Amino acid sequence: MNKKLIKKVRRSFKEHFKTKALQVFSPGRINLIGEHTDYNEGFVFPAAINKGIALSIQQSEANKCQVFALDKEVMYEFTLSENEPIVNGGWRNYILGVVSELEKLGLKLGNFNAVFAGNIPSGAGLSSSAALENAFVYGLNELFALRLSKKDMILISQKAEHNFAGVQCGIMDQYASMFGVKNSALLLDCRTVTAKTYRIDFKKYKLLLFNTNVAHELSESAYNDRRTVCESISKHLNIKALRDATHKDLEGIQKEVSAEDFQKALYIIEENQRVHAFAKAIKKNKLKKLGKLMYASHAGLSEQYKVSCPELDFLVHRAKENPNVLGARMMGGGFGGCTINLVLKGAAEEFENEITSKFLNEFGMECTVYQVELSKGTHIIK
Ligand code: GLA
Repeated sequence: MNKKLIKKVRRSFKEHFKTKALQVFSPGRINLIGEHTDYNEGFVFPAAINKGIALSIQQSEANKCQVFALDKEVMYEFTLSENEPIVNGGWRNYILGVVSELEKLGLKLGNFNAVFAGNIPSGAGLSSSAALENAFVYGLNELFALRLSKKDMILISQKAEHNFAGVQCGIMDQYASMFGVKNSALLLDCRTVTAKTYRIDFKKYKLLLFNTNVAHELSESAYNDRRTVCESISKHLNIKALRDATHKDLEGIQKEVSAEDFQKALYIIEENQRVHAFAKAIKKNKLKKLGKLMYASHAGLSEQYKVSCPELDFLVHRAKENPNVLGARMMGGGFGGCTINLVLKGAAEEFENEITSKFLNEFGMECTVYQVELSKGTHIIK
């Protein structure tokens, strides 16, 4: 599937720019558990997937950069001196963001041409934006011999997201996309930005994603609001981040904060604990426990942290009614996107059919099913 995508991008580059190019593939990600914990310097458990962004990129003699978004058939031209985000610029801001953040570090870039395309729908919560940022930073690092480490690169991608897309995201998406390992998930400590690799084998079970195909408005400002709440509670507790808080600490200031903010902070503390419990259960092959933790994570996201939506809740509740599903939860920032489900292999097709028809009945629109493989991170294709 990716071979086709890569070929298509390579061919388009040749048509537009008549030269050979460097090929980069950068994957999207899933997250097993640990949602909204990354910007609290806590723990997450993501994995890169076999879908993402293919990029062809080459230096140019022209006095501008040209980037062709093949899926949209739009050519974006800019000069290296442009370094302000574009109002409603969408995908352009991720690219301009990466370029500008590299230049802010005093790194010397030349003009370049590029073509990119992807096979993850944007808004699905599979981090197509991190994949795009990482594809460009990786390609530019190689083309202009910038000598950046992978860790340097993901921090640049994250800055592009903060300063050009306006989302104060954590480091999970960029990390997973860059450092992914085949057949594995990464238990990432977002404070030290180091991860342990866990080989994943769910035996008789497999992962299925259901995309609600909704991306509710204001999700970006709601995301930033959640982050502000967490930071203000940390301040109140006199700690660096909620990663350092216990339930007891939080109870100590319960009377001084709103009940809503208390629940949000409590969710973060509990979700961090769930990530560790999940890692332990993987080691011990306790699949039922994994499922329970996924449901608990969803309940927290929906009822305490309040980042779910009716479509996501509906999918998780239907999953819970099915004995062949061990666990399910919303994935990513929330307010739309996908649920992740741990489903008995032999019953997966039946479950898919059941869920999709119930969803259609309820919302008058389709949800989409994805199967993913856990794959390696951003890399050059020879
Ligand atoms: C988005 C952000 C991540 C993370 C998740 C929620 O995907 O980009 O940094 O906060 O939401 O876990």
